[in-house]
Formats: sequence, C-alpha cells, structure tokens
Amino acid sequence: MSWFSERSAMKFLQQPKFMRGLLGLAQRLNPIFSVGSTTVLTHAEDIRESLERTCDFEYDPYNRNRMLMGPFLLALNPYPVNKEEKKFLGGLLSTLSLPPGASPLDAVVNKACAAHASGILGKLGEPTWQVDLVTEYAEPVVIDLVKGFFGINSPAANATKIFKVSSGDELLAQWLRKVGSVIATTTPAPFGLQQVAEASAKELTQHLDACANAAWPSATPGAYTTVLGGLLDEVHSRRLKQKQSTGAILNVDELEFVRRNLIGLVLAGSTPLIKAFIHGIDQLFKRPDKPMHGQGRRFPKGVKRAPLYSAYIAARAGRRQELETLFFEALRFNPTFPMLTRYCPRTVTVAARTSRASEIPAGNIVMVPPIAAMFDNTNLPDPDVFGYSRPNNAYMHFGWGGHLCLGESVARTALVSMALHLLNVQSVDIDTLRAFLPAIDRAEIIYDGPAIESYKVVYP
Ligand code: HEM
Repeated sequence: MSWFSERSAMKFLQQPKFMRGLLGLAQRLNPIFSVGSTTVLTHAEDIRESLERTCDFEYDPYNRNRMLMGPFLLALNPYPVNKEEKKFLGGLLSTLSLPPGASPLDAVVNKACAAHASGILGKLGEPTWQVDLVTEYAEPVVIDLVKGFFGINSPAANATKIFKVSSGDELLAQWLRKVGSVIATTTPAPFGLQQVAEASAKELTQHLDACANAAWPSATPGAYTTVLGGLLDEVHSRRLKQKQSTGAILNVDELEFVRRNLIGLVLAGSTPLIKAFIHGIDQLFKRPDKPMHGQGRRFPKGVKRAPLYSAYIAARAGRRQELETLFFEALRFNPTFPMLTRYCPRTVTVAARTSRASEIPAGNIVMVPPIAAMFDNTNLPDPDVFGYSRPNNAYMHFGWGGHLCLGESVARTALVSMALHLLNVQSVDIDTLRAFLPAIDRAEIIYDGPAIESYKVVYP
C-alpha cells in the first residue's frame, strides 16, 4: 500500500463513529463473527469473558516476538512469578500515588499542569491566538511525568530531534511517541514507523540503562519518590535477602529487572495518557448533548454544549470527582483503546449456555473491542446519550480482567488534573469563551501513526 493510502486507511479506521456503527450492527445481527482466522466479539458479556479467561485468550505468543524492547507484563502469561512481579509493581504505583492530593504523583502532575496551562490560558485574552494542545500541553505534561514521576532524565537533544516540545526534551518526546505508540500494536506499524520505532527503542534502552546505573549509588533503601527509585529499592531488598555484597553498578539480572519494568510502565503509560487526554477533551469540547434532567435551569441562556459547560463549572469549582465522571463519559465516545487483541492457543467455547455460544478454533486471533461493550445497551442504558452519572463499571477504558491496567489510578489523577488546569479559565468571561466555540469546532486530531501529533485550536 502506498504511503498516502496507508495514511487514508488509518484515518478512516481511527473514526470511532465508523467502528461503533459496524460493531453495533454486528451486535444485533451476528454478535460473534469470524473473518478467516480472526474472530470478533461484540457483546459486552463475551468481551468481559474473554478478558477474564487469560489462559484461553492469551496475549503472549501473538505479541511476544514483536514486543519492542522485550516482553513486559501484558505479554506474559499469568505464571506465579509474573503475578508476584505484578503485585509488587501495583504496590509501588499505589505507594507513589498516595495519599490522594498529596502524593509524589500529585506533586509532579499539578506542578506540570499548572506550568503548561498558564502558557495557554495566558493567550486567551489576545485578539488572535493559536494553541496546539498536544505539543504545548499534553506532551510536555507527560514528559514532566516521565522525568519527575518515573525518574528518567532527559537526554540532550541531538540532530534527530523532530518535535516542538519543551526545550531540552525533544529526544525523549520522540522516543516516547515512536516507541510508545507501536509497543502494543500487533501488526507492523504503518508507513515506515516500525523501523523508526526499532531505532528509537535501541537508543531508549541504552539511555535507561545509563539512568539506572547513574541513580544506583545514591539510592537509599526505603526512601524513594519515583518509579525508578522504587525499582532500585527492590534491588536493595533482593540483595539483602540474598546477602549479596553491594556493587557500584547493577549486575546483569538487576539491570534487566529495572529496565524491563521501568520501560513497561513508562511506555504503557505515557502515549496512552496523551491520547486519552486529547480524545477526551475533543469530545468534551464538541459534544452537543443536552443538560442532565433538572440541570437545564442552572445553565446560562444560549449554552448549547452541556458537557463542556458542566466540565468548565466543575473545573472552576475544583470538583475533581464531577470532572472525572464527565471526562470518562466523554472518552467513551472515542476511547483510547477501542480494540484489544488476543490469541487462542486452544479451541475454546465463548458465551456457552447462551444463544450466542460459539467455538473459536485454536490459533485464531480474537478482536476484543471495549468500544462495543461501552455502547452495548445490555451493559449501560441509552448508550448513545451522554450520561452525567454513569457508574464506573459501565466503562472499559482500562481493560478488564487479568490484564486490567496497572496504572489506572495514576492515569485518573493525571487526566483529571490536566483537564482541571486547562478548563479552570478565570481570565476571560463566559461570553468571550462562547466566541471560541467555532475555533474549537475546527480543531482536528492529527495522528502520527497510532500516536497523536497535534490538536490545534486557532482563534478567530
Ligand atoms: C489514560 C491512560 C491509560 C489507558 C487508557 C490505559 C489502558 C490500558 C488497557 C486497556 C490495558 C489492558 C490492555 C489489554 O488487556 O490488552 C492496560 C494495561 C496496562 N497498563 Fe494502562 N492505560 C493507561 C495508562 C497507564 C499508566 C499511566 C500506566 C503505568 C503507570 C499503565 C500501565 C499498564 C500496565 C503495566 C498494563 C499491563 C497490565 C498487565 O498486563 O497485567 N497504564 N492499560
């Protein structure tokens, strides 16, 4: 396929409306269907079932060899050793995210959001302005998170830099975008991205090893505020258990443990955060839905976008929970991961004891679309309507079952803070804000392969 038609095909396939429509039709006519050796599930119950049966619906053999930088949790079977490591990583992430509002994570995220939002909000009083919410906001915030929360320092930019992000972080941004966006793609990435990703993965690996070895001598047992610090703390306790003497640099196994988990967490977290933020904010900006029942009276005359207005009011009042509910409902209309994939190592029956019961032959690839589950009316009522107070279990943004996202609480904190700082517009009045709507409507998400390249709002 030529570069142009690959890009057009990608653009078409990335349309959530197209995917929703197609899967919705299948849900009614043929909820479990196969095309060649690929089976597609469309019913919420079957999607949950396949994600819970991790041994029958595996990630591993399908992706292991293609996983850039080696297999990480998602690509590993639930053997006891992997379960142990997962438990440890989950504990590490929650230690760094607690207590809510005053954790090491909150400190980094709030500082980053405040700094980058102020540059954007400062422009709004000008007669003309232009902001790119990817390169001027989401990407720099996530880069700050990679440095301050994950503990990876930024290498000096070199000639290969290609992005306009906070100065000094171009190379890190490039690595994350190029490697992070294809890390879990199951087909070779389009338009030459695979080669760029492989080259970036090599550079990133060397950089991570250098970061880990540089941080090791000063790592104090029991005292850490970053993911890298937590991994080095674990190395300390393993050495203590094995009564090993300490060395100035990490040994091969230790370095492998630190690198594998550090990169797994960083890549699983950084690109999806940028994507989730832009998808969610784009939907919040543009959805024309009605106010919630009984809420209309509180709206000023002429407000046509109840979700955006509700989010703006919640942000100005600092009501995080309300903003979170609105954000994840908006994201439902264009989820970060509309489709997950699995592999069947043996013949399995799905939806047994229902009229949908189907056998999936060994060796089949199974497409598991959270987007279909989140628009299935057996899972949530009135799926086409914007819901202002849906329960959390109606959503599948962070997957389901055995491979449920390990960074969910990190992502929630980061996304809500990003939305809160951006929508907390105190500097201009509501009428001026309303005048920005046509500019917001023209904003378009531009993709760079699976990652997002830009989302520009140009006023007037
Ligand atoms: C908005 C941002 C994020 C979204 C939408 C997201 C979504 C997901 C989804 C859907 C899965 C399951 C994939 C599957 O079953 O095939 C997953 C797995 C995972 N996520 Fe996230 N994620 C986000 C952020 C993060 C962050 C910030 C971290 C780390 C700090 C993280 C760490 C992981 C890990 C380690 C796994 C694999 C878990 C396993 O295999 O057991 N994610 N994520």
